[in-house]
Amino acid sequence: MNNLQLELFDEIVEKTNKKKTDTSSTFLDNMKLPIHRWFRYSAGFSAEWVESVITSHLKDYHKAEINVFDPFTGSGTVLLASDNLGVNSMGVEAHPFVSKITNAKLQWNTDVEKFYNFAKKLLERAKMENGSTEGYPDLIYKCYPPESLQQLDAIVRVLKEGDDNSPEHKLSWVALVSILRACAPVGTASWQYVLPNKTKAKMANPFEAYEKQINIMAYDMRHMQSKNVMPKAQFFQEDARECPSIPSNSVDLVITSPPYANNYDYADATRLEMSFFGEVSGWGDLREKVSQFLVRSCTQHVSKYKDYTFEILKDDVLKPIYGEILDVCQRLDEERVNHGGKKNYHTMIATYFLDLAKVWIQLRRVCKDGSNVCFVIGDSAPYGIYVPVDKWLGDLAIAAGFKEYSFEKTRDRNVKWKNRKHEVPLKEGRLWVKG
Ligand SMILES: C[S@@+](CC[C@H](N)C(=O)[O-])C[C@H]1O[C@@H](n2cnc3c(N)ncnc32)[C@H](O)[C@@H]1O
Repeated sequence: MNNLQLELFDEIVEKTNKKKTDTSSTFLDNMKLPIHRWFRYSAGFSAEWVESVITSHLKDYHKAEINVFDPFTGSGTVLLASDNLGVNSMGVEAHPFVSKITNAKLQWNTDVEKFYNFAKKLLERAKMENGSTEGYPDLIYKCYPPESLQQLDAIVRVLKEGDDNSPEHKLSWVALVSILRACAPVGTASWQYVLPNKTKAKMANPFEAYEKQINIMAYDMRHMQSKNVMPKAQFFQEDARECPSIPSNSVDLVITSPPYANNYDYADATRLEMSFFGEVSGWGDLREKVSQFLVRSCTQHVSKYKDYTFEILKDDVLKPIYGEILDVCQRLDEERVNHGGKKNYHTMIATYFLDLAKVWIQLRRVCKDGSNVCFVIGDSAPYGIYVPVDKWLGDLAIAAGFKEYSFEKTRDRNVKWKNRKHEVPLKEGRLWVKG
């Protein structure tokens, strides 16, 4: 890395330090932004913050020269922010349903009239249909009253009949996805789990909500198209531990947020939507259709590796942190017997870092010399045993061939809640790695 690149890196860190927006690691602000707001992905981060990082990086480059990459694309925040700035980008996401949403959002350059007429005609036909309430999984009956389900069913039937894989169809599909929560009188917990027993006062009428949504989408598309930028993002539904579609030595800047080692279940986050579309009907399906493709960050998905936990730790790629991770996993294994759930956190931690070590190896392959990497991460303390996520991820990055790392804290976690499970202070922030 030459001096100019080192200075540029320091400048990026300094500038984003100054901004210090506490909401940079949340999706909340994106709900005001065109296209981003088509799906509320609570696992996402702020598009404005992403744009500020890209813009700082652009200072010494021509736009056409820079290539941004997000190995955990989620709902497409980094790709859309890059499109908005006219910058090349690539993204990888392994969750099939989330990938479909992202793919649809990336069709923003579709002819607006064509999309609007397609979706409007679809809605008019749905209004003439006799929607059925039969054949849905139990969760759907718990979430929707029959009259709402009938309307939603009519829309989905017409959608399925007219599936021609066109951009207009993809956009019309995501319009339906984006109204599903608003049309259910049930609550959604923070982190998107559906709570069928918690009822909301307000619930949208599906036909009205769909019409409103296609109007919002047409407005957003017009807005984005008026900027005179071309859609440049390339998106692949694949595994960040391998990213076969990303060419070696092609990336200048990585901005991403991997799953945290905190038991959040990304498969469960889209359970309502996937159940509605008939893609899953229970937990087993979620595992088969989603979880098996993801980084192992949940105890629910690692029980089959339990007996191999300490073998997994011996994998060569974990060598740089072996002593520390072994100690933490042994303590977690001892501690679990004192808790009712006897959760396999020790296995989750072992498999999580093995997966992330593989991601670093791929990132080293795809990143150019002199590139910059930013991981938005949070640490964790299962059963009150602290896991130094920033240090271990940094050490694994260096072992994969990156040059140096630093951690920038953006907020404290687990310091206020009365009902917290333990009192270990936690933090969220950005791991900056130099390539
Ligand atoms: C914290 S979220 C990223 C959200 C994203 N920054 C956004 O704004 O929408 C992490 C994402 O990583 C995805 N993921 C998990 N394991 C993966 C893997 N092995 N390869 C690619 N993506 C994966 C999850 O499905 C999830 O969407």
